[in-house]
Parts: sequence; structure tokens; C-alpha cells
Amino acid sequence: MNQPTSLSVNSWDFRSGVLHVGGCSVSDLISEFGSPLYVYDRAVMEGQFEVLRKAISYRPFRLRYACKANGNLTILRIFRELGAHLDVTSPGEIVLAEMAGFHAEHLLFTGSSVTDEELAFVERKGVLINFDSISQLRRYGRRFPHRDICLRLNLDVGAGHHEHVITGGPDSKFGITAEDLPDARQLARQFDLRIVGLHQHIGSGILDAQIFLRAVEPLLEVARDFEDLLFLNVGGGLGIPYAPEDRPLDLAELGEGMTRLCESFCRSYGRRLRLELEPGRFLVGPAGCLLTRVNTVKRTSKHVFAGTDSGFNHLIRHPLYRSYHRIINATREDGPVRRVAVCGNLCESGDLFTHGREIIEPREGDILAICDAGAYGYSMSFPYNMRPRPAEVLVDEGRAWLIRRRERIEDLVALFPPVAI
Ligand SMILES: Cc1ncc(COP(=O)(O)O)c(C=O)c1O
Repeated sequence: MNQPTSLSVNSWDFRSGVLHVGGCSVSDLISEFGSPLYVYDRAVMEGQFEVLRKAISYRPFRLRYACKANGNLTILRIFRELGAHLDVTSPGEIVLAEMAGFHAEHLLFTGSSVTDEELAFVERKGVLINFDSISQLRRYGRRFPHRDICLRLNLDVGAGHHEHVITGGPDSKFGITAEDLPDARQLARQFDLRIVGLHQHIGSGILDAQIFLRAVEPLLEVARDFEDLLFLNVGGGLGIPYAPEDRPLDLAELGEGMTRLCESFCRSYGRRLRLELEPGRFLVGPAGCLLTRVNTVKRTSKHVFAGTDSGFNHLIRHPLYRSYHRIINATREDGPVRRVAVCGNLCESGDLFTHGREIIEPREGDILAICDAGAYGYSMSFPYNMRPRPAEVLVDEGRAWLIRRRERIEDLVALFPPVAI
């Protein structure tokens, strides 16, 4: 019997019973680079970037990759070559962006609960700051007057695949609310800060274009009162279909709607502003999978557990959000299908990639591919249980490059200074 889950990405297919990703056999990848392993397909990232760029016909238009989704240096370099700009959230991401060849003018810093030291760092780097709070704006203005700035707004519109990822509305810590806008404008006048951009990001994993379009309307309404604007950034949050029943975001509907709204706004505003979108997940999510080897099959009266050499320390999306990831038995194309709970090697009951899923019955030694793991997989990983993080590999038309080496136990113990107690 064939795998019950279909492969949505053309460059992923079975050859001689083994899953190939970007033309590379997963067995060969594991033999060469070890297990578990993150694998990213370059063609998929490039395809996602191009399809989105073409979907929006409004110009000027800028795609800003939200590198929190996947901060691998090589992946940043790929997006730089494609002409992307970057959304950065921390000094560390600025350093990474510089290493990848981005310049200050390519970056927009959108931080949360930012310290004075961080503000000074971003200022020294010459990166435009997107202000998240009145506090941040006041502290910055006192030290660095006469600058250009952007405001992140929270106009009471939020959406997302899970309550943890909704970033607009009264329950969200993000952005400057409509009530605080007069104070923001007063501070900008006081410190001669020119508001050149307005920004909002309502949440993540949104698959309905109308939700985005409805959210842009209040932003445009507010924007009429800001006379110095150069751009409007409508955030990221574009969802990808994880589960078989998920319908992909209608990019034509999104692109046409966004273009119509911006054209009409700019006519009445009197100037053509740049439109910016800052997706993370959409660009990298479908390009990545986590490969993990089954080492233990165990039965209880209720479940068959397939125990693997990875865990939620490498991909936390299922325990954190109950997220669905397609799981494919990558070394067994045919065979009986069985409902299995796929678990990891951590000392936590919640260490599961799925509580139960029908897949080709995994045997010990099989490799499983956990799909659509390119976004918020490695970037949210951590060494719980003193278990190091996997290596990362880029595949491209049958060739594979190691783009981050596997973490070692030595790397983790090296953090402890010698303390004489
Ligand atoms: C301000 C901002 N922009 C962009 C993104 C990227 O979101 P996504 O990966 O859902 O596109 C995020 C995600 O947290 C965000 O907070």
C-alpha cells in the first residue's frame, strides 16, 4: 500500500523505495551526515520566494524575510541573492545578517522588550528601528534625536493558527495601540523623529487572504494622518498547508487585494509608498524536513510507539501548538499502514511528533521524514536533556552541502566556566 500522505513538493519523491529530497536519497544523507538531520531544499525556498514576489503586482514592493523562522547563515545568503530584505529581532540576528552580506539599509529591527543597550547597538549599526512601545520610543528619542523611525501598530486585529501566535488585539504584548498613538506622535515631535514607516503583524499561519486584507484597512486609515511616510509594512503570517485538509493561501486573491488597496490609498495620499511583506514560514517551511531514525518500537494496550533519536528539543511545534506535520516513512514506500504515536528520546511524556497517525508501519532502523519543518524547527530548538542539536544540510538538484555542523556534547559543556566552590 502506498503512503497515506501525499508529497506536495515535486522535488520530493520515492526512488527504489527510498524518499529523495531535492534529488538526494535520505538514506545517503543520513549515512553521510548522521541522524537526526535537518534537510532544506533550495529549489523550494526559491520557488516560494518567486511565487510570492510575482503574486503582488503593486510597485514598489519589498519582500523582507523574517529570519527568526530559520536563521541558518546559508539560507540568509540564498535570500540575499534573491533580493530579499530582512526582518531582524535581536542584535544576534543583525550580526548574522551582516555575515550573510546584508547591509544596514536591508534591515528593519522589530524588537520586543528591548533594552537601552540593544537600542544603542542597533543605532550604531545604522539599522532602522520599528518601535514596539512608547517606553522604547521615549528612551530612544532622549539619546538619539533627529532620526528616521518606524512604528509597529496594534490596531486590535489579530489572527493565527494558535492563540500563542496571535500578535494583535488586547491580549497581545506587541505594538503601539491606537490609544497610544497621540503619545507616540508627541514623542516623535519632541525628539524630531521622522515617522517614515508604519508596520503591523497580526499573527502567524493565516490561510485566508481576506483576513490579511481586512486587517490592512485600519492600517491604511491610520496612515492618512502621517505625512512623512515612505513605506507600509503589513507583516508576515502567511500560512502553509501542513495537514492534508488545509487549503493553501490564495496568493492571487491576496496579491490582487493588496494591490487594489495600496493603489487606492496612494492615490488619495498623494504619493506612492513602498509596500512591504515580511513572511518567514511561507518561504522556508515547506522547504525543510527533519529526518529521524526509529530505534524502538513499543506497544501498550492503547498505542504503538515509534521511538526516534530526535525529540521536541529539535521540533517543538506539536507539543507547543498541537501542530500537524506530515510524517512519512522515508525508507519504506510500501507495506501495511498502522496508526502509530511517533515519539522522541526526551524524558517527557509530551515528547511526541504525533499522538497517532497512520503511516507505513515503521520498523526499527527506518528513517522518518517529518515534513514542512523548515520554519520554527531548528530556530526554536534547544539542548534539553543535554542532547545536542542536529546538523543542517542544504540539498539542490542531487547535491548536498553541510550548512551547520551537528552540535556536540563538548559544545554544551564548554559553556560552563571553571568555578572553584
Ligand atoms: C513582526 C513579525 N514579522 C514577521 C513574522 C514572521 O511570521 P511568519 O513566519 O508567520 O510569516 C513574525 C513572526 O513571529 C513577526 O513577529
